Amino acid sequence: MGPHERHRPSAPLVVVIDGPAGAGKTTVARAVARALGLPLLDTGAIYRTLALVAQRRAIAWDDEPGLAALAVAFPIALGELPADGGPQAVRYAGEDVTAAIRTPAMSQGASKVSALPAVRAALLGIQRALGDRGCVAEGRDMGTVVFPDAPHKFFLTADLPTRALRRHAELAANPGAAVPSLDEVQREVAERDARDSSRAAAPLRQADDAVLVDSSGVGIDAVVERVLEHIRAATGA
Ligand code: DC
Repeated sequence: MGPHERHRPSAPLVVVIDGPAGAGKTTVARAVARALGLPLLDTGAIYRTLALVAQRRAIAWDDEPGLAALAVAFPIALGELPADGGPQAVRYAGEDVTAAIRTPAMSQGASKVSALPAVRAALLGIQRALGDRGCVAEGRDMGTVVFPDAPHKFFLTADLPTRALRRHAELAANPGAAVPSLDEVQREVAERDARDSSRAAAPLRQADDAVLVDSSGVGIDAVVERVLEHIRAATGA
């Protein structure tokens, strides 16, 4: 798709939100998707589910051929956003894995499996197929690799203490899971960011044409409003 084609009114609306762990991407992406009536494509959930299924099948998180074989024709389904503001349901081969993928272990597992080029290649087509009729896509490489022609790109960030606090609150909201201390969460977030940003394959990076939104000290509602204003201004709506 060339640069002049991307604003065709008939092209499906794809909004991408990339950024490091705990920047508020999921919350913002959910609210933006709801406001625009678009499905949410949470690509972190796909990597998390791969890490979970690999662990159950005793496939190591650094076994690149084994993981890539598992990722081909990956039977994942991302549900519609519930009207009550709750989380998006994630199913693997029909099984509800929504809560099981939100543990600190699966955060690390997702970060490890996603560093492998063959895994990213195997999951690329699935992500595009899930999103190409319009979506709000969130992840690390949505604007750079998966949807490079998306007309609306945002890179959401925040300072490390803010991100650690948000991740900690998310974990505390996950029923039945042990909640690590804030210090542990901050270490985990910093470690994951370092790995996600330094890997050779599609590292976490702001796309040249993405709008940078720093949410440190800013309420999530204000961030959502800022993102929606940008989209409205760009589409003249
Ligand atoms: O957004 P998240 O915390 O659910 O993502 C979990 C991990 O998955 C993250 O540490 C890196 C990886 N990931 C990725 O490499 N590319 C994406 N588009 C989304 C997530």
